[in-house]
Amino acid sequence: MRRLWFSLWYWLPRRPPWDTGVTPPELVRFVESHPAGRALDLGCGTGTNVVYLARHGWSAVGVDFAGRAIAKARRRAREAGVTCTFVVGDVTRLAVPGPFDLALDIGCLHSIPPSGRPGYATGLSRVVRPGGTYWLYAFAPGGPAYGLTREDVRDTFAAAFDVVRVEEGKGRPSAWYTLARR
Ligand SMILES: C[S@@+](CC[C@H](N)C(=O)[O-])C[C@H]1O[C@@H](n2cnc3c(N)ncnc32)[C@H](O)[C@@H]1O
Repeated sequence: MRRLWFSLWYWLPRRPPWDTGVTPPELVRFVESHPAGRALDLGCGTGTNVVYLARHGWSAVGVDFAGRAIAKARRRAREAGVTCTFVVGDVTRLAVPGPFDLALDIGCLHSIPPSGRPGYATGLSRVVRPGGTYWLYAFAPGGPAYGLTREDVRDTFAAAFDVVRVEEGKGRPSAWYTLARR
């Protein structure tokens, strides 16, 4: 049902509210302060951030289960003249080959039911290299998505990642999490 719900948004004539086409300043700062490598965007939507990373020298892969979003992402990459890889797939059963230096999730994990988190975390730990970074933006519970508390994030990824930084998000209760792969 959630797949259908997201897919319908991408068929509407107007953009979904999250699809701003703007790379968050937090990601811009990260990219400006880290060397380029391989990056994976989980729940990449129409590919704004995958294309941004590719423009900045990253070898970038985006995964989303909404085929229409992936089609738009491929078009965005073509128009930008960059090479990226986009995959239609479920991030709770990740099937992309690693290793990645950076994985990011901007607004996907918080919409996945808690039962999907172990599969997501196992797949993520398989593809992020030791020392690599996982970067997550998630709503807190109580809003329009399932949401995650700080403890949820720590516990979901405890087997393979340490939470190294948490910054409050702006607007609705949310946070930017930086995790390091052990
Ligand atoms: C709120 S949107 C954010 C999209 C993008 N990260 C952005 O910032 O524009 C969440 C995205 O996650 C995708 N998504 C949700 N659950 C997913 C799953 N289990 N597997 C793959 N994609 C998923 C949705 O299709 C949607 O594109």
